[in-house]
Amino acid sequence: MQQESDRLRGEGLRIGFVPTMGALHEGHLDLLRLCRTHCDVTVMSVFVNPTQFGANEDFGRYPRDLDRDAMLAASAGCDILFTPQAEEVYPPGYSTWVQEEILSATLEGRSRPTHFRGVTTVVTKLFLMVKPHCAVFGQKDAQQAAIIKRMVRDLHFDIELLIAPIRREADGLAMSSRNMYLSESGRIEALALSRSLRLAEQFVAGGGRDADAIRALVKDELNRSGAVTVDYVALLDAETLDEVDMLSGQATLLAIAARVDRTRLIDNTILRVETIER
Ligand code: PAJ
Repeated sequence: MQQESDRLRGEGLRIGFVPTMGALHEGHLDLLRLCRTHCDVTVMSVFVNPTQFGANEDFGRYPRDLDRDAMLAASAGCDILFTPQAEEVYPPGYSTWVQEEILSATLEGRSRPTHFRGVTTVVTKLFLMVKPHCAVFGQKDAQQAAIIKRMVRDLHFDIELLIAPIRREADGLAMSSRNMYLSESGRIEALALSRSLRLAEQFVAGGGRDADAIRALVKDELNRSGAVTVDYVALLDAETLDEVDMLSGQATLLAIAARVDRTRLIDNTILRVETIER
């Protein structure tokens, strides 16, 4: 991969990169399509990264179907599908980690303490292998996107980052490889997540600004479904991930995590208050 990237760079081509763990869906393909508009050659990686899964998480049963992924990636215009093996990514005796220490401590990091260390380490490794000029991540994983942005800034990676909007099913469910774990009824119960976010957006559009009130509204909607167990409902500054008490002119991230059918789902929206209010 490094030799191929050197060759492409030698030809003056701009390399774009979309890292994934496979089980591709339209959300991943949107990233690829956005990437293609910003570069000459698009590389997508498919690597189920063991170090970002906790001991009791779904690494073993994470969906894997490389033939299908290759077909979908090609159909969306992927030029190079990069599928490294775990032993190549993590050579025997590896002992070097990349860790972001502030943004990683909250939300997902609280219930998954080693998760983001695995993400920042593997993304660093993939960046060094693929040598991209630009890379695309999804807003679906808002905290991950904020952490990668911070890491790129802190470590001076010479890579332009692009963040693609959340791709949803027609009924509102945010697309995720983990949606496959949901039962038929769980799939319907899971709609409570996107529904609760829409309610919050309406509340803000109607003049609501108080974070406690928004949190209560969202929790109530999630709890209306007996099948949904709330993990967190958080209102944070979209960049610093500091908690917000009252919405202001800054973009506020409303992030939620909940379990449905024992499957952990996340979703989010950015709440914006128009600075000039009538
Ligand atoms: P994965 O969950 O496969 O997601 C790959 C990329 O697709 C991430 O940037 C994610 O935010 C984006 N994505 C997933 N669902 C999306 C949706 N519905 N709409 C828009 N974008 C979506 O995130 C990872 O893999 C891993 O942590 C990785 C960065 C590859 C490191 O291992």
